[in-house]
Amino acid sequence: MKKGLWIDGKWQWTEETVAIYAPYSKEQIAELAVATETDVERAIASAQKAAVQMAALTAYERATILAQLADLFAEHRERAARIIALECAKPLKYAYVEIDRTIETYKFAAEEAKRLTGEMIPMDASKSGAGRLAYTMREPLGVIAAITPFNFPQNLVAHKVGPALAAGNTIVLKPATQTALSALFLAELLAQTALPAGAFQVVTGQGKVVGDVFLAHPAVKMITFTGSPAVGLSLRNRAGLKKVTLELGSNSGVIIDEGVALDTIMERIVMGAFSNQGQVCISLQRIYVKEALFTDFIEQLQAKVAQLQLGDPLDVATDVTAMIAESEQQRALTWIEEAIAEGAQLITGGRMENGMLLPTVLTGVSAHSRVACEEIFAPVVIVNAVSTIEEAIIAMNDSHYGLQAGIFTPSIQTAFAATKQLQVGGVMINDIPTYRVDHMPYGGVKDSGTGREGVKYAMEEMTEMKLVVWNQRL
Ligand code: SIN
Repeated sequence: MKKGLWIDGKWQWTEETVAIYAPYSKEQIAELAVATETDVERAIASAQKAAVQMAALTAYERATILAQLADLFAEHRERAARIIALECAKPLKYAYVEIDRTIETYKFAAEEAKRLTGEMIPMDASKSGAGRLAYTMREPLGVIAAITPFNFPQNLVAHKVGPALAAGNTIVLKPATQTALSALFLAELLAQTALPAGAFQVVTGQGKVVGDVFLAHPAVKMITFTGSPAVGLSLRNRAGLKKVTLELGSNSGVIIDEGVALDTIMERIVMGAFSNQGQVCISLQRIYVKEALFTDFIEQLQAKVAQLQLGDPLDVATDVTAMIAESEQQRALTWIEEAIAEGAQLITGGRMENGMLLPTVLTGVSAHSRVACEEIFAPVVIVNAVSTIEEAIIAMNDSHYGLQAGIFTPSIQTAFAATKQLQVGGVMINDIPTYRVDHMPYGGVKDSGTGREGVKYAMEEMTEMKLVVWNQRL
């Protein structure tokens, strides 16, 4: 299947192309266009032209376009999910969940388009403000450039496209090469709505080439990026006065307090650690369990992991499959071996079977092992015993990341203390850090990023505040 760039509402082919293979079957699934600098510049120019039209649309018109898009995804749910399962190796059961979330994200965007407001400023609170009426308005920025990762090829794109269009911007999207088919399918769907041509562009190819044009082009007013801290930092350092939001990684953890019935949480623990092969920014990577529960916890976890079905992502019974690339599986294996050499005990997994890294559980892991202190982004979880909640919180905070954290506890005092002490963007009480719904604010502290997603919050990032002050005494 040949797939071009989507520029100015038309497909465009390029001289250079790249072959895309399914991570599980290893079969070629597409030949993708590779954009040159000139192609990216043309996409930005077209988005700049369309920005005038987009800014002139009413809130009602923007909401209608986004609602149309949500309906189209509902109509094409099966196809959209199968594209994800094929190109990303996301088990179909999770691909359906992603499409359902995508529909909801665009519905939220349609709703938020109608709620984009400013606020009244009580000017007479100042001695020199008497007799003045003031309010703020939110205006679109113009052209937004988005760079998205492979792990949620529709919903993480929706978290950029939805709010950008809801706020009246245009958007140029560079999806991860491995999962660009989903973004190109989105282009097909958006073309069936009333969105002005040029308001949404997709450029595929080399991240560095595209990213450099995004950074250099004066019409690009904001870069919204989800991916690795190294790339995110480099974008931010070179972005000058462009706005930048960064959703980067994490090594998210959960604390399990005494008094928690383990059988009631084990399903969530396994889902948090192994869904999408752990390739989720808020995947559950570190578990700190009170000593009294430790043996029981390990036994129950081992039993649940043994029930996971490994296999073809297109089989709806599959729970875990191949990671996105062979090199990534090898990297994860190296980290596991390193942790064992540094004193960890392997409970289960830790090897490949039929080209897939088995879900892996380690205990007694040193805080300095890479499986603990870096983002593994693989089906690997570590479980360490702690004697107090304070010890667990210190261990959780001993990280250069801080996206989301979880704590299971029957004690309201412990829960409140944890919300204050955990250094993260979001604390989940009685849940795993992997919990997310699409209208809640989402983003991190430390190396996990800057700015917030979640439709309403992303719209704040994607607009500029304008102040109006009326002197009523003239
Ligand atoms: C991510 O990997 O950052 C997104 C997680 C999610 O949306 O569930």
